[in-house]
Amino acid sequence: MIPSGKARLAGVIGWPVEHSLSPRLHGYWLEHHRIDGAYVPLAVAPEDLRTALSALPALGFRGVNLTLPHKEQALELCHETDDLARRIGAVNTIVVREGKLVGSNSDAFGFLENLKEGAPDWRADAAPAVVLGAGGASRAVVAALAEAGAPEVRIVNRTRERAETLAASLGPSLGSTISVHGWDQRHEALADAGLLVNTTTLGMASQAPLDLDLDGLPADALVTDIVYTPLMTPLLEAARARGNPLVDGLGMLLHQARPGFEAWYGVRPEVTPALRDFVLSA
Ligand code: ATR
Repeated sequence: MIPSGKARLAGVIGWPVEHSLSPRLHGYWLEHHRIDGAYVPLAVAPEDLRTALSALPALGFRGVNLTLPHKEQALELCHETDDLARRIGAVNTIVVREGKLVGSNSDAFGFLENLKEGAPDWRADAAPAVVLGAGGASRAVVAALAEAGAPEVRIVNRTRERAETLAASLGPSLGSTISVHGWDQRHEALADAGLLVNTTTLGMASQAPLDLDLDGLPADALVTDIVYTPLMTPLLEAARARGNPLVDGLGMLLHQARPGFEAWYGVRPEVTPALRDFVLSA
């Protein structure tokens, strides 16, 4: 429906923001639920983030999502943040409550919900998980896996110190064993794993391919990639060729959007095949 003067407002703040799929995704749900609302892209440079966020209550926004490069800075700018967002070190969802900015992080939720939906038999606590990469996306994935009870999370990263920093900041607070492996150990790290997650940019369209030998990965291990352009990354193709179960990365984007939509518009939205098709047809 076309927004009226009483429309509920939310949006996504990024720099750049024009490639964000979030307006399309939230726009689909607004239409589907016949909600009088609008969800707009907001291009805000990093040096203007403080000003932009502090203006949200006065502008009548119910909240926003944050995308690159703002998630870490937003943590410092919220009046309140939850434990998980602080542990991850990033905020991707802000809800305006009584004039205050309340920040949370739904990336870990989105990651786990995507696996639950795509691989209902997979269990986090059954076997070690291998996470390739130690950037912002990896922090959310490692926090999610540790919280879901993974007995061991093996972080494999090109820059070993970055993985060590991540393990040191997340491990003690979560009570999971988090081990660190250099990039040259990536093949061996797959032994006995129940899950393999790529959080690096390798395999993304226009990026280098991920060079990984899957021979040591158990045949029943679940493989997932947070890259979703292309949807079937070379890693997922290789996993499919050897019969491993797999889940693509688009679902994480779709599921992470649900908590924000519910908070701003008062309806719990669903991730459906029709939504996937709509977002993919962008
Ligand atoms: P994000 O916040 O989206 O996770 P990021 O912080 O830029 O993105 O992290 C990108 C990840 O891809 C990092 O783990 C990076 O490894 P480094 O920490 O060593 O930089 C990884 N990555 C990028 N290019 C890579 C390459 N050519 N080989 C191995 N890892 C790579």
